[in-house]
Amino acid sequence: MESQNLSCGQSPQPPHPLEKQVRQRLLSQLTRGEILEQFQAFSIPYRELMTYYRCAMMEVETKFRVLDEEFSLAHDRNPIESIKTRLKEPGSLLDKLKRKNLPLNITTIEEHIFDIAGVRVICSSPGDLYRLADCLLSQDDVTLIAKKDYIQTPKPNGYRSLHLIVEVPIFLAEHKKMMKVEIQLRTIAMDFWASLEHKLRYKKDMKVPQALIAELRECADLSASLDARMEAIRSKIEQTQTET
Ligand code: GTP
Ligand code: MG
Repeated sequence: MESQNLSCGQSPQPPHPLEKQVRQRLLSQLTRGEILEQFQAFSIPYRELMTYYRCAMMEVETKFRVLDEEFSLAHDRNPIESIKTRLKEPGSLLDKLKRKNLPLNITTIEEHIFDIAGVRVICSSPGDLYRLADCLLSQDDVTLIAKKDYIQTPKPNGYRSLHLIVEVPIFLAEHKKMMKVEIQLRTIAMDFWASLEHKLRYKKDMKVPQALIAELRECADLSASLDARMEAIRSKIEQTQTET
């Protein structure tokens, strides 16, 4: 793996003696289990990179928590229900590189895989969700790389969420580094649906019948209308409160 520009303010570390050997054999001779072991045990640049992604995830999570605090001060309620973060597992990263026909090295990972650091923000309502996204994107250290609005245009199976790929700086001892983070913003209802659908999809021994797929799609539409109705009720309550 390439190790340039990855050390934290120190001069680049020489590759581990085993690294070259591993790199040569990687993907050709090693079994999948061995590759994963090498990933974790010997690749210092890989571990450094993952640390940087973890830092970027923390940056983004903090940005959302600050927005939540500020909103609750002004409106006496929290727009964020919960925030989940996850770092892509080495196995899933390897699968993605293979699927995209990409080589296993640090530069390729940084340039082509944008969902290593994932932040999922579960919001109270679609309105809050878009407000939070707008606030985040208006911050001058946040750069929008890509946006997929599966709320405006749901996936054919009914999946809804707002996906953003952003780039944020992380400040290290002697330099700053720009890192990409995948953000998924959903309402509680959207998340409820997505987690059930995910479980069904990944049940290896089960071929989901067509009728169930159609019913799931119907449930997604129902949950979207529930979101809209709940939001309308809430804004009426808030209106009544300001009038009295
Ligand atoms: P990946 O290569 O899987 O990352 O997909 P992509 O690059 O086309 O990105 P996309 O924005 O479509 O999806 C990224 C992530 O969103 C997935 O890893 C899931 O977490 C989530 N997601 C996307 N589609 C679905 C879906 O139909 N159902 C569920 N449950 N989750 C989904
Ligand atoms: Mg993904």
